[in-house]
Amino acid sequence: MTTPTPAQDRVLIFDTTLRDGEQSPGATMSHAEKLEIAQLLDEMGVDIIEAGFPIASDGDFQAVRDIARLAQRATICGLARANFTDIDRCWEAIREAKSPRIHTFIGTSPLHREITKLDQDEMVQRIHDTVTHARNLCDNVQWSPMDATRTERDYLCRVVETAIKAGASTINIPDTVGYTYPRESAEIIAMLRERVPGADAVILATHCHNDLGMATANALAAVEAGARQIECTINGLGERAGNTALEEVVMALKVRNDILPYRTSIDSTKIMNISRMVAAVSGFPVQFNKAVVGKNAFAHESGIHQDGVLKNAETFEIMRPEDIGLQATNLVMGKHSGRAALRAKMAQLGYELADNQLKDVFVRFKALADRKKEVYDDDLIALMQDSAASGADDHLQLRRLRVICGTDGPQEAELTMTVGGVEKSIDATGDGPVDATFNAVRMLFPHEAHLELYQVHAVTEGTDAQATVSVRLEAEGRIFTGQSADTDTVVASARAYVNALNKLVLAQARGNASAMIHAG
Ligand code: KIV
Ligand code: ZN
Repeated sequence: MTTPTPAQDRVLIFDTTLRDGEQSPGATMSHAEKLEIAQLLDEMGVDIIEAGFPIASDGDFQAVRDIARLAQRATICGLARANFTDIDRCWEAIREAKSPRIHTFIGTSPLHREITKLDQDEMVQRIHDTVTHARNLCDNVQWSPMDATRTERDYLCRVVETAIKAGASTINIPDTVGYTYPRESAEIIAMLRERVPGADAVILATHCHNDLGMATANALAAVEAGARQIECTINGLGERAGNTALEEVVMALKVRNDILPYRTSIDSTKIMNISRMVAAVSGFPVQFNKAVVGKNAFAHESGIHQDGVLKNAETFEIMRPEDIGLQATNLVMGKHSGRAALRAKMAQLGYELADNQLKDVFVRFKALADRKKEVYDDDLIALMQDSAASGADDHLQLRRLRVICGTDGPQEAELTMTVGGVEKSIDATGDGPVDATFNAVRMLFPHEAHLELYQVHAVTEGTDAQATVSVRLEAEGRIFTGQSADTDTVVASARAYVNALNKLVLAQARGNASAMIHAG
């Protein structure tokens, strides 16, 4: 990969959905989901994919290693703290990538120095030693002073100079707690370029969190001051209020290229598809009015707006829906639609279906169309996400569910599931149909995982609308998320629960979670 200098107009996009994004409580993704997202990031033109934190767990290590093996275009980066064990493990995970990068960091602000019990000189020595060690393994090393925006400016210059001298070729400036402001974000980059020898020979990166809602503005201000790498995540996923959203910076640079004359390598038409994918697998739905990818981002409700848009879309639209991969389609799907129409429609929505996939999705589509008069785009997207969530090899599979509801007395669920290939049935009661169903699942498959979140969203309007249900389970400090969609909310709930449990079973089989499940 060529290394542009700040004088050039190319801004590198560093995506950390799979590391900082996944670190956000509850956003844990399965191995297969991480690989699928990495593939989409690679295809959409992301320059650097931060694939994970290899020392964190065997699961993280395996995911980073497998992503390193599959990436065709992107540089694959792993995160490591400032110690040799972390860095060695990181290198093991990324070394097979076509273009590997080690990203090592240490907290440099007074608060963090207190935690690590290193004084200023000791920390400088640690930075020198760890960056040198990383550089001896890999010729592409990124270094970050965590909490840079709350680090004394003189000391920040000193540590950045140390890392550059030790061989880091990218210096990332994290606003770890989302504290900075656009003018200050720009000033820090300008100061480093002015005061630190060698700063213009490396890539300066910006990594902003969104605690005050300024992550995108702060990242763009840093770019104007000379930063040439933006660290971001899909849908702004990330710790607390999240990170800079990839879709926001990419579209801002595109739409306002008149005042932000920089380019990225991102194919923006792939944004919508990956946004949906990340929302589905992380269990973090995109807020309706989210910039660029929210459901309402291109919806015009008021009469004046609708009239204007019909006459000339530019009256109220600064970007075209198709720029982010939203197709204006005229294919209406219903129970008479055939396979070819379904394949074409799915392609418009960003899903290229192989023949065997089409077969399976078509069966599900027909079942849905039998229950629903009109099948909307959002229904098909939910159906795709639902198909991705379950597989024929799953340990737990829902066979039959019948619930009995009434105004008096507890609700009752009659459930049949296969557990490891053996069919089992049970009746259970509960406070409401979902509670009764979950009790039945627990009786057929006893486990200690704790239900952290249960969330229902209507996919479209109308009483025949599908419901998307997200379930988040916690077991031994690890999070497992399940999702499903169905016109029957209770069925979707049961499937989402079972889906999360299947992920837990898989993690246990890989040795990542031990003794969480009783034989059942
Ligand atoms: O926010 C932060 O400081 C980080 C670092 C690890 C780069 O994510
Ligand atoms: Zn971060």
